Amino acid sequence: MRIDESLAAVVTGGASGLGLATVKALRAAGAKVAIFDLNPEHGQAAAAETGAVFCQCDVLSDESVDAAFARARAANGQERALVSCAGGGNAISTTRRDRQTGAISFFPSDKFEWVLRLNTVGTFRCVTRSAAGMMTLDPIDGERGAMVNTASAAATDGQMGQAAYAAAKAAIIGMTLPIARDLAREGIRITTIQPGIFATPPMLRNPEMVQALGATVPFPKRLGDPSEFASMALELLRNGYMNGETVRLDGAIRMPPR
Ligand SMILES: NC(=O)c1ccc[n+]([C@@H]2O[C@H](COP(=O)([O-])OP(=O)(O)OC[C@H]3O[C@@H](n4cnc5c(N)ncnc54)[C@H](O)[C@@H]3O)[C@@H](O)[C@H]2O)c1
Repeated sequence: MRIDESLAAVVTGGASGLGLATVKALRAAGAKVAIFDLNPEHGQAAAAETGAVFCQCDVLSDESVDAAFARARAANGQERALVSCAGGGNAISTTRRDRQTGAISFFPSDKFEWVLRLNTVGTFRCVTRSAAGMMTLDPIDGERGAMVNTASAAATDGQMGQAAYAAAKAAIIGMTLPIARDLAREGIRITTIQPGIFATPPMLRNPEMVQALGATVPFPKRLGDPSEFASMALELLRNGYMNGETVRLDGAIRMPPR
């Protein structure tokens, strides 16, 4: 896929962190970009900074996602690229005994489900809509479009408290190949990035943790820079033979139990 002025792209979670870095890289290459994000304040600021279009969007809702795609396509034309970064998690023990009181509590089902709905279903919802739009396009060099999902190192080495997040991100990895197979006939590729630990706002809120976590990365001994994620996302869009696969991007870290 050529990334230049002729390309329209959608980035979910594009108002912050890995998504925002991807928006900046796509804009630097000349692409027209629509930012789908829940946070209007950050979304508008990101759009003003990058020259992208902000479409407020909750990936948990069909109506909201449909409206955002309509708005993005009215502004930029039908997208050929989708990068899904909207996501997040929680940290709750499966079942635990309080050390002081001895009280036993467990992971509430609604909080578990929310993480799956946000990461897995939210990503899939955007993939289905985007693929439907891409199918209306004429192929360029045999290809109608390409998509990149965001999983996490937690998908394969989830830490204590990450049962829901690990399950949600493992599901994103699991669905990558069947989606690639479903969309192959239409000339649409899909891949997933499995990031380690990146220096984004949720991480940067705790500078001591950043230092400690950085030291645990084999090489380079630091957190990933969001621009390194963006660089990988653009290569996965560009490289026409890359399909149905997940790529770790993590300085060789394997997460310990806690
Ligand atoms: N930063 C890391 O170390 C790291 C590591 C592995 C995976 N990830 C994954 O990368 C993705 C981006 O994380 P980040 O660190 O850049 O976080 P971030 O908080 O900086 O950005 C996430 C963005 O998603 C948006 N968002 C959240 N819920 C949404 C919803 N329902 N609808 C639309 N937008 C929504 C937020 O408003 C925010 O702008 C997430 O999926 C995260 O799980 C991050």
